[in-house]
Amino acid sequence: MVKVTVCGAAGGIGQPLSLMLKMNPYINELSLFDVVNVPGVGTDLSHIDTDTKVTYHLKSDDNNTGLSQALKDSNFVIIPAGVPRKPGMTRDDLFKINAGICSELATGIAETCPDAAVLVISNPVNSTVPVFAEVFKKKGIFNPRKLFGVTTLDSVRANTFISEVATNEADKAPSAFNIRVVGGHSGETIVPLFSVCAPHVYALEDEKKIDALVHRVQYGGDEVVQAKNGAGSATLSMAYAGYKFLHAVLAASTGDTTIIESSYVYLDDSIPGAKETKEIIKGLYGGESLDYFAMPVVLSKEGIKEIKSDILSRVNNKEKELLKICCKTLAGNIAKGASFSQ
Ligand code: NAD
Ligand code: LMR
Repeated sequence: MVKVTVCGAAGGIGQPLSLMLKMNPYINELSLFDVVNVPGVGTDLSHIDTDTKVTYHLKSDDNNTGLSQALKDSNFVIIPAGVPRKPGMTRDDLFKINAGICSELATGIAETCPDAAVLVISNPVNSTVPVFAEVFKKKGIFNPRKLFGVTTLDSVRANTFISEVATNEADKAPSAFNIRVVGGHSGETIVPLFSVCAPHVYALEDEKKIDALVHRVQYGGDEVVQAKNGAGSATLSMAYAGYKFLHAVLAASTGDTTIIESSYVYLDDSIPGAKETKEIIKGLYGGESLDYFAMPVVLSKEGIKEIKSDILSRVNNKEKELLKICCKTLAGNIAKGASFSQ
């Protein structure tokens, strides 16, 4: 029996994400949780004739036991709960509200389904993932192999944007690419590794085109925020990306050992590749190493099997510079999240 809970299921991401999950044959029960509107979303989805059973829970249900009812027996929890950006805001501006929401959800998970894999979408991901980790550590249930910051949208964008500038016909389809994006999930902490993943795209021999492409991936979220003009940030592309990542985690949990996806993870020494990743970051950054970084990870039944550190040793000089800038900002973001619950 596979149970997936979506926290923030009635929101802009939560609704289309839940629709896609209702169509996933691996999932037996889809549990929807929110503080508002979730009975409507849950009832609507429950009429779809796929085999996945839908349950829904408001926080206020049965004397405020809605969260524990939603989470009970969950194997996977995906979290698009929290406020989105408006034009002029950074993701960091969301921290105060969203860190509180994440801390509350983390406490619920630790108390109700401590073995679940947890996938964090709520921004700022660079800081909210450390919020989850710290709550889990305090509760004595932290498993670094099962905590994932969802950064898939960055590689989804990189694949799309590079295909738009490709000059050779074969590369004009986004599906021709699998660009790895490392670092974090905001502005200059987003580092797409085009030199490693797409050496054959002729358009990228032009320095200016590479710079423009990197910038577009780093600030792709702003494009959507501006276009939505006050009505929020990316929801549909994020639902797609969240679904893509959860599907990969689910597929790996059934025994597929070939799946590699990028995610913002805790670099715990017990995970193969984590120490090497920290060493390389330390060398590039020149300061202390970082405890969290988005990296390609090999997924397995137990969560993260290995961190693919080798990708960082193959980057070019330009990408080394981008990584240095990334590390500086990321260090502050991590410290902010890690100190929240203290
Ligand atoms: P939204 O406002 O449309 O939806 C958020 C939902 O969370 C709402 O339904 C709200 O009621 C619910 N919520 C609030 N407090 C809650 C709580 N304590 N428990 C459960 N649910 C709660 O926002 P959205 O557009 O869906 O975005 C959600 C979050 O995802 C934002 O923080 C946004 O910045 C982030 N986001 C991340 C990525 C990424 O790549 N990781 C991409 C896009 C958006
Ligand atoms: C994104 O990259 O689209 C999300 O992180 C939402 C945002 O605030 O830009």
